[in-house]
Amino acid sequence: MEKNYDFIKGFDSLNREYTQFTIGNSNKLPNWLRGTLLKVGPAQFKIGKTDVKHWFDGLAMLYKFEITDKEIFFSNSFIKSSQYQAHQNGKMLHDEFATKAPLGILGKIKNLIGMMLGKDVLNPNCNVNIAKIADNFIAMTEVNNNMSFNQLSLGTIGKTKYIDTIKGQMTTAHPVYDNETGELFNLLIEIAPRQIKYKIYKINTRDSNNSSILREQIAEFSKPYLFYSHSFFLTSKYIILYAGPIETSATRLLTHSFNEALIYNKDCKSEFIIIDRKSGNIKYLPVAPFIFLHGINSYESEKQQLIIDLITYENLEDNPYNKFYLEKLAQNRIDISTTIKRYTLDLELMTATSQLITDTNIEFPQINRKYHNQEYNYVWGVYGDNSRPNDFFNGLIKQNINLTNDIKVWHEAEFYPSEPIFIKNPTSNDEDDGIIMTNVYDANRHISILLFLNASDMTEIARFDLPCHIPFTLHGNFYNNIKKPL
Ligand SMILES: [Fe+2]
Repeated sequence: MEKNYDFIKGFDSLNREYTQFTIGNSNKLPNWLRGTLLKVGPAQFKIGKTDVKHWFDGLAMLYKFEITDKEIFFSNSFIKSSQYQAHQNGKMLHDEFATKAPLGILGKIKNLIGMMLGKDVLNPNCNVNIAKIADNFIAMTEVNNNMSFNQLSLGTIGKTKYIDTIKGQMTTAHPVYDNETGELFNLLIEIAPRQIKYKIYKINTRDSNNSSILREQIAEFSKPYLFYSHSFFLTSKYIILYAGPIETSATRLLTHSFNEALIYNKDCKSEFIIIDRKSGNIKYLPVAPFIFLHGINSYESEKQQLIIDLITYENLEDNPYNKFYLEKLAQNRIDISTTIKRYTLDLELMTATSQLITDTNIEFPQINRKYHNQEYNYVWGVYGDNSRPNDFFNGLIKQNINLTNDIKVWHEAEFYPSEPIFIKNPTSNDEDDGIIMTNVYDANRHISILLFLNASDMTEIARFDLPCHIPFTLHGNFYNNIKKPL
């Protein structure tokens, strides 16, 4: 008989907030490892009186793990959004990712009219990722309603303000950053009844401060439908989007939750959309359909080809997010099957070829950020160990991209890690010299631990009990010094 695993309790709601709770002494950690890991994730799965359906529906919680010369501190705080305030009053005000708010008929009509008029009626929780622009810390989701927060207290500041007037309701929670230029790129999608406008913008983070974040549009194109883009790619000359078979329309969005609006279009003509960063010129390169959520890295090769590494979902004619409904997770019907693939785009020949790198079930990929947009060797992530079929992500993996069999893992039964964060050793030039740091759910004890691994061989350096369980988090970043503005 198939075993029912216990990870589902890792989706129990967390209501308690802690402030600078001491979880241990930092003397077991390398001297250079000082700073703060900020993460975000869904944490409260009943909003008002509504039990939400999906992992990504939960109220957003920020987490801070601070390593000082002496101690390690843990803090957490809900983002005090209008949805959070409504929840405090026993109500659910806005639709979340896969759960529609139980609004009366008047509320629904008001939202429909608002959406048709291009108003910001979509207002889900910012529980997906964290970005930093100048000294502004931002919690993000895929609707353009980012929330700024105080990185020290985790207190909510309010909606992030921009000084431009670029319009759009949707975005991605995975902006891409150019280490050389300090430019941050993202996508803004304007939904209108008959056409969807895709706008690519950049922010010069070195010229920004809290009161003057300027988005500069560099390209725009239109489609009659909305293709789903969770992440995209950057090279020194190009921005590369992928328009695949997961799509929706303005009409479906009016009547469905966002996730339920997404469909797999068998007749889709998939393509890479390649945008010249300087001129804004766009090329469309057809490719056989595939499904991916997270890119790993992208760069220009010596032969002037574009190399794109990503994680695909195999044998799937469905939206991969459908795997993460809480009811399915509770029944161990997760069945994750992912591969790492490399796409090589040749802009002279206008060809896109793919190559399988590994079929390890990896997700939440991370690399040494110094190697963004250049040749590299290593990716770290969570993975699903094959000895436990239908289990959730139950281990951490280091994969050599160039030597498929060069894999190192950390795996303990009943331990479920969230996204691993790679922190490089500042005194070393070796790509894999650093620490992997993440929160791991211990299903036996129903608490989470903070785990530190040697990133090179994936051996354990230290672990610390947290005072509570942490519902599986999504994304985050490590900052050496969050007190100092850029
Ligand atoms: Fe993501």
